[in-house]
Amino acid sequence: MSIRNLDDLLAEGVSGRRVLVRADLNVPLDKQTGEITDDGRIRAVLPTLGALVQAGAKVVVCSHLGRPKGAPDPQFSLRPVAGRLGELLGAPVHFATDTVGDSARSTVEGLADGQVALLENLRFNKGETSKDETERGTFADQLAAFGEAYVDDAFGAVHRKHASVYDVPARLPHVAGRLVLREVEVLSKLTGEPERPYVVVLGGSKVSDKLAVIEALLPKVDRLLIGGGMCFTFLKAQGHEVGTSLLEEEMVETCRNLLERSEGKIMLPVDVVAADAFAPDAAHDTVRADGIPSHRLGLDIGPETVAGFAAALSQAKTVFWNGPMGVFEMAAFANGTRGVAEAITKADAFSVVGGGDSAAAVRALGLDESSFGHISTGGGASLEYLEGKTLPGIAALEK
Ligand code: 3PG
Ligand code: MG
Repeated sequence: MSIRNLDDLLAEGVSGRRVLVRADLNVPLDKQTGEITDDGRIRAVLPTLGALVQAGAKVVVCSHLGRPKGAPDPQFSLRPVAGRLGELLGAPVHFATDTVGDSARSTVEGLADGQVALLENLRFNKGETSKDETERGTFADQLAAFGEAYVDDAFGAVHRKHASVYDVPARLPHVAGRLVLREVEVLSKLTGEPERPYVVVLGGSKVSDKLAVIEALLPKVDRLLIGGGMCFTFLKAQGHEVGTSLLEEEMVETCRNLLERSEGKIMLPVDVVAADAFAPDAAHDTVRADGIPSHRLGLDIGPETVAGFAAALSQAKTVFWNGPMGVFEMAAFANGTRGVAEAITKADAFSVVGGGDSAAAVRALGLDESSFGHISTGGGASLEYLEGKTLPGIAALEK
């Protein structure tokens, strides 16, 4: 791609220079304890940060976490992330308690060569996500003042037209970090000429969230396997009753239309695990996909479906997977996700896992991350990339 990357910046020499790095450190936190439950996104930016530290840069890291509403909100503080990042880097990370205020200024000024600072949550400031160019621009000016160069390593946020992603690179010499470079290299293989058969597995709760990517992928794939909460809207479109399962009534017609146009590429569950309630200990049975009892809801795909999906995956040469097959957080409904994930690792294929939930599922189920070709740190971002959309964060780096 026609984008300068970290190596170009390192070749110019960064020793003693302030480098502003946009990372996506939006990690899941335990609601009770506030502890980080999955540090995958922090580990994913270590190659970029480590290289800058090694080269003697003064590294200023910024990120969002969650969706605070443009003002400070302690439950979304990045402080715990600074702690974990310091552990992983093996050196303390200086934490600023605001983003562009007094604390940020003195923290940045106090950095020695090879030290790292983390600014407080970007979204504590209205300007970060504002639709108003001027408001975003004013915030971007303040951020840009902290760096002499800008590195975007926040792949998970490149689909957002936000100040730190879109407006700051217009104000500073800019490059893609190691993570962004790798993500784009991998995903461009899927949009280019993937080795066939190319099999895509989609799950997650809503068809409406995935409609655009289904439309974009259908002509490209050999098989599209659909599980997760969204399969029930498709089953309904096939004329089946789905009990009290998740259903997007207004999408049934769209799903029917997709099935008609899919030339048999779409595979749906033939059996599902149906439960009395959405609870870890709910009574449940495997039932036929066309025989879900009216008082029950489907919470996972069934074993026959897993076997069918696994057979399709065993033929694949390229696989993309986004979205869990069931409520994998509850052990009783994790078999579908586990079975599909294992089938992907066994296939002799280049496999890409896209998105927060699927990546978290891989780790939560104790699967070996290295048995997948690539685990993307972007959920929405990887889907929008595959849809062929222009991603504001990438476009800004190309300029
Ligand atoms: C994500 O988790 O999807 C990214 O960090 C982007 O977050 P957002 O969807 O709140 O913009
Ligand atoms: Mg998202």
